[in-house]
Amino acid sequence: MQKKTYTEIHNNIVSWYQEHGRVTLPWRNTQSAYEIYLSEIMLQQTQVKTVLERFYFPFLERFPTFNDVANAPVDDVLKAWEGLGYYTRARNLHKTAQATQGQLPNSAEALEKLAGIGKSTAHAVACFAFNESLPILDANVKRILYRFFAIEKRHEKTLWEKAYELFDQNNAYIYNQTLMDIGSMVCTHKNPNCKACPFESHCQGKESPLLYPEKKVKKSKPVKERFMIIYHYNNRYALSQNDTKLLGGLWAFVQEEAFDTNSNKVTQLGAFVHHYTHFRLDAKVLLLTQELKENHYFSLEEIDQLALSGADRKALELLKAYTK
Ligand code: ADE
Repeated sequence: MQKKTYTEIHNNIVSWYQEHGRVTLPWRNTQSAYEIYLSEIMLQQTQVKTVLERFYFPFLERFPTFNDVANAPVDDVLKAWEGLGYYTRARNLHKTAQATQGQLPNSAEALEKLAGIGKSTAHAVACFAFNESLPILDANVKRILYRFFAIEKRHEKTLWEKAYELFDQNNAYIYNQTLMDIGSMVCTHKNPNCKACPFESHCQGKESPLLYPEKKVKKSKPVKERFMIIYHYNNRYALSQNDTKLLGGLWAFVQEEAFDTNSNKVTQLGAFVHHYTHFRLDAKVLLLTQELKENHYFSLEEIDQLALSGADRKALELLKAYTK
């Protein structure tokens, strides 16, 4: 059989999208650049299902316009982001809202200069919101290209060249959305369904897709053992605002590497494990009845209004179980 050209693949993509594309996703049914951009930022490190079911609509309800983000304190944005993780995204969203005065620029070139918007996100927003004809290259698209061109070595620059080579510039919107759908539904990480793929005729990796790209050498995560100490005074609990890169802006209980647990002022509330991208936290949670100077104290009701990291929420649950 004669090999198809990319033109034929591009035609296959249109038919595939009409039949199988996730056309009802809310960010595919809006003209609002803010709503499209918000979805792209949320989807950078989070799955569609989580964004759709738990975060996208509540965030838009709290901040209906990008101006509302610009005018809010960053703490409120962090609160709406609580549970979604990778909080730098929320801080950058707020920074960008203020820098642009709630009005996103309409070209990829200008978008890419803003905090938290890399090349692929800039292309996605410019394509989906402003009809600019540019390819995208997120993790799912990368996997498709590595397989399609049978490239074993991970190399970002080569991949951008390939992204442009395969791109359908006359049909950028559907092409890009389809690649995202194929990446998450067909050309999946562990179980690709090549027979159902519109790229199959030209895919050089289809005989053994799992070979592409080569596996990353997995290092085991370092473990941090910490005491989380909840200082307690007058029915209020001490928290301070984190200033690290990972969790900056979120409220946190005190953490110590070492602590004398023998004091009669200490109550052991329990322990938990929390996984971060680059390390594992093994925490023992202690309640300590003692004032901690230069700290903010809150009631349990007030703590519920603050943005806390996942680990601090786990500590809070132990505290609530104890005080019930
Ligand atoms: N991931 C990133 N952008 C997306 C989009 N527009 N649709 C589905 N998944 C995505």
